Amino acid sequence: MQKIGVIPGDGIGPEVIIEARKVLDAVTQKRNLTLEFEEFPLGAAHYLKTGEVLSDETIQRLSKKDAILLGAMGDPRVKPGILEKGILLRLRFHFDQYVNLRPVKLLDGVPCPLAGKERRIDMQFVRENTEDFYVGLGGRVKTGLSRTELDLRRRAYEVKFDIGIDLKDEAELAFQIGVITKHGARRVIEFAFRLAEKKGIDLVTAVDKANVLTDAYGLWREAVEEVAAKHGIAKEFQYVDAVALLLVRNPERFKLLVTPNLFGDILTDLGAALQGGLGFAPSGNINPAGVSMFEPVHGSAPDIAGKGIANPVGAILSSALMLETIGHPEAASDIEKAVGAVLKSGKHMTHDIGGKTTTSKIGDAIVSELSGKRRAS
Ligand code: NAI
Ligand code: MG
Repeated sequence: MQKIGVIPGDGIGPEVIIEARKVLDAVTQKRNLTLEFEEFPLGAAHYLKTGEVLSDETIQRLSKKDAILLGAMGDPRVKPGILEKGILLRLRFHFDQYVNLRPVKLLDGVPCPLAGKERRIDMQFVRENTEDFYVGLGGRVKTGLSRTELDLRRRAYEVKFDIGIDLKDEAELAFQIGVITKHGARRVIEFAFRLAEKKGIDLVTAVDKANVLTDAYGLWREAVEEVAAKHGIAKEFQYVDAVALLLVRNPERFKLLVTPNLFGDILTDLGAALQGGLGFAPSGNINPAGVSMFEPVHGSAPDIAGKGIANPVGAILSSALMLETIGHPEAASDIEKAVGAVLKSGKHMTHDIGGKTTTSKIGDAIVSELSGKRRAS
């Protein structure tokens, strides 16, 4: 039996997680799987009541789970960043979830913002999730001499930067350090190639900007070369600006992209737009040897929270991604097929794409499809 920690969170988080749970219950019954769920009431309500964001004890309990399913964090009553950084980033960091996996698939029945022929968009984004310009190292200095000491601690390594700056003829300067290590690059690239193998994908696109940011992404490229040499899969290098253009002009050409953290952050939102919007986009924060966390890409959407109109598809597909990752690919595929059939039928259009179907009706329709109890309507 596998154990799942569920963190519904804030805003529409709990609304979409209820639907994901319904679908998980249906598929586990169908496939005879036993999953044990435990809910963790983290988020704004808990914080406002107790002053606690995320305790060490909760992290301990979560570390015993096989995976975590999360709704969304963030609430207008709480200063931005407290819950998002204090819960999401802390968990990603604590569990060393170094892969951000974002499948971008345009499902039949979902409108794509790109004009033209019928689109067949289906690609995996594998984004590095712990390094690059997101290591939180930077500073601001004023005219004259100054010294900044910065410290980066990771499970596998520690780096100290001791930076002397002599700023002349300018009032103020800010800098931000991007870090790529061989270890950090290799492990996520290795994940990408293994995923390609598993899915029968024959081309890996490695994204960078090695023509200008030559040091950081030069090392990234070397890591790609090294890892690719061990796998029998074709690879190509593409600069991030070219990828942005090609994603709009010819997204069908991409199958799996592996990218450093910053470029991945930006390109995956473009990807979410291609698949119909934030409401349809699933994600996983993965540590292949540890506790991974699955969540829809969208936030807590306070503007529509409580109205029962949130699109639960991103959360439902995130739970499918979770099942696939913890060893139940058939159950994951059942969910994807049921979601696909419901959207394709055109009878259940969510509010974010101009329809009228409520959050719970979409969940019910997917459950009916899964259980083979299609209602005659
Ligand atoms: P958001 O993703 O919550 O919403 C952006 C827009 O998309 C809103 O108009 C919203 O109504 C719409 N939208 C989002 N998800 C939807 C869904 N499932 N169905 C229908 N419409 C949907 O991003 P926003 O507004 O920038 O942030 C709101 C809060 O969420 C903030 O506190 C932010 O920090 C937090 N946030 C949390 C994330 C997470 O938990 N992983 C990710 C992004 C934002
Ligand atoms: Mg983003």
